[in-house]
Amino acid sequence: MHMRTLHILGVGTFVCALVAAFTVAGHARQARTVADGVYSAAQAQRGAALSKAQCASCHGDMLEGVVGPMLAGDGFLQAWAGRTMTDLVDKIQNTMPLQAPGSLSRAQSIDIATYMLQASKLKPGQADLAAGALAQVTFAAAPRPAAAPAGGAGGVNLAPMANLAQLMRGVTFPNANIIFNVQVKDPGTTRPQQPVPFDYMLWGSTVYYGWQAVDQAAQALVETTPLFLLPGRRCENGRPVPVDRADYQKFTQDLVNVSREFYKLSQSRKQDAIVDQIERLNDACANCHKVYRDVGLAEGGGLGGDRCR
Ligand code: HEC
Ligand code: HEC
Repeated sequence: MHMRTLHILGVGTFVCALVAAFTVAGHARQARTVADGVYSAAQAQRGAALSKAQCASCHGDMLEGVVGPMLAGDGFLQAWAGRTMTDLVDKIQNTMPLQAPGSLSRAQSIDIATYMLQASKLKPGQADLAAGALAQVTFAAAPRPAAAPAGGAGGVNLAPMANLAQLMRGVTFPNANIIFNVQVKDPGTTRPQQPVPFDYMLWGSTVYYGWQAVDQAAQALVETTPLFLLPGRRCENGRPVPVDRADYQKFTQDLVNVSREFYKLSQSRKQDAIVDQIERLNDACANCHKVYRDVGLAEGGGLGGDRCR
């Protein structure tokens, strides 16, 4: 199993290296930014019609963001800074519209992307943006918001990549669930599945399991919850995460504190110790969700337009 993991990672790295080499070569040929009149007005108009029909329900008529993120304006340009039009057109063609990904042609995806440039007040030029030119057109690196950390230790870039919902789904939710799961399964008696299943997720749970996994989930929550406060992150609907709000900061701090206590409870290796306190973890999530997540369009939750307000 170890060998197989290494092998697959190795192939991925090799492909990335090739792609990077091509991108660099393309740049040298004819580098332009999205502000250089790279599309025609007629093309953006075609894109606007497609967008109104297929995207506006989630992204808004003016691409201002509703339940999906804003797709125009400074916040949008900043979110895409440093990437190319290929990235944007791929994102559209491969993943949107959310309920029917893959249904748009390349040409349609490009047209819609140029409407995003127009809606961002970037001037058109004479010619359509062609498929072959996408890789040469970059979103200029926007100036960082003043409060954003320039880099962490060793100059590592700490700028956010995910929106808040993605961070919660990718990091907070799975780790919290490891702790919530102690209610239904005693980590002290949990043994790895035998034979080891051919499934990376299940195999992983045979390597770090039981109380060790609970310890690590609590540690992961302590270490990653402060990322809720990283400046520059947006919520899924495009609103900035309310990092300046005192109550939002307190809810974040509360989750860090509670997670620290759950680490101690896990160290006791007593299932009951966790079960007795589990409401406190639940409340640490719910207190913030009541104010900033489960508000707006759908009663009691769902993708609310008022999230993060
Ligand atoms: C049913 C709702 C829905 C519809 C319809 C929809 N989207 Fe989205 N879109 C989302 C959500 C939710 C996200 C955020 C999650 C993600 O990035 O995958 C998103 C993200 C995006 C992003 C990435 C934005 C960013 O800055 O990261 C782009 C670009 C996008 N959509 C384009 C489109 C286009 C173009 C259409 C129409 C062809 C469309 N979407 C239709 C819900 C929708
Ligand atoms: C400080 C506030 C805060 C705390 C604490 C918090 N959340 Fe969230 N959470 C939010 C907000 C706001 C959203 C909506 C983000 C968005 O739409 O981009 C969210 C979204 C989510 C989502 C995604 C929901 C969806 O739309 O699919 C999940 C899952 C989630 N949170 C889980 C958790 C869990 C589990 C905890 C506790 C261990 C937690 N959160 C603690 C504020 C918080």
